Amino acid sequence: MRGAERKAGAMAIERVGVVGGGQMGGGIAEVCAKAGIDTVVVEVSDELIDRSRAQIEASMLKAVDKGKLDQAGFEAALDNVSFAVSIDDLADRQLVIEAVVENLSVKHELFGRLDEIVEADGAILASNTSSIPITQIAGATGRPGSVVGMHFFNPAQVMPLVEVVSTVVSDGEVVERAATFAEAQLGKVVVRAKDRAGFIVNKLLCPYIFEAIRMYEEGFATKEDIDAAMVNGAGYPMGPLTLADLVGNDTMLAVSESFMEEYQDPKYAAPPLLRRMVEAGLLGRKTGRGFYEY
Ligand code: 3HC
Repeated sequence: MRGAERKAGAMAIERVGVVGGGQMGGGIAEVCAKAGIDTVVVEVSDELIDRSRAQIEASMLKAVDKGKLDQAGFEAALDNVSFAVSIDDLADRQLVIEAVVENLSVKHELFGRLDEIVEADGAILASNTSSIPITQIAGATGRPGSVVGMHFFNPAQVMPLVEVVSTVVSDGEVVERAATFAEAQLGKVVVRAKDRAGFIVNKLLCPYIFEAIRMYEEGFATKEDIDAAMVNGAGYPMGPLTLADLVGNDTMLAVSESFMEEYQDPKYAAPPLLRRMVEAGLLGRKTGRGFYEY
């Protein structure tokens, strides 16, 4: 038994809550459910619950099609996920992962409520934020030592990485427990980062995507050629404009705004085209149109 697995066995997390059942939250819930963990997903309406359940089921079926999950595993994983419209249902969770919209005031209110509700001993409150400092989110709670970042990548059910982010007031044991959970129970690759907007991946990846948007906006090359160049010339699995559509152009804009607040460096500034596309509702795959049509 590897060290990480031994440690996880001793302090395994059996009950997880995921707040937000969208693209990221749904993917995270699926990963947890497939790992045999009792997972409650909170969404704000029955309609969004139905959408989240359908998305998770479709993705699990894709995993079956791809030979990544057998029929028994599919049924067990589906059984492990339940849905709720109230975060009151998260009282007994040992770990809650927040994956709601990238808006500090929304996250603040949510973590304030989680602080009142979640009563399991030693419970961890984690945020999947892409770019908002975890310290600011933790400040909404009376237990900032128990708040960490657990940043998954889109699509969470496929991408191996989780960035575990600690703040200057995070409790070291809590950070270790979150990292061990991601590594040993979810089978993810874990890297650790300090609490600076963008952590490791987005700090490197987003300026590259913004530059690609500027290149397209200036008429330097077509979007197809920009994407084809980076796939075929640099070995990326998808080009930067296709990736922006996958991540969501609204998320890209929110990330840029957090970066600008943190670093005041123009390399992180949102290209005007990105802003206009978000205003026009061209958010990418999730709205059927972004740089491309879906
Ligand atoms: N469940 C489980 N496994 C699945 C799956 C599912 N629903 N769907 C696909 N897979 C597996 C496949 O079995 C395959 O595995 P294999 O390589 O072992 O055979 C692998 O995933 C690739 O699947 P496909 O060949 O079907 O390829 P697709 O074209 O459908 O998907 C992709 C490809 C994984 C999305 C790939 O294009 C990719 O890696 N793109 C880059 C994504 C990326 O960079 N994400 C990070 C974005 S940044 C971010 O999220 C941070 C945020 O904060 C902004």
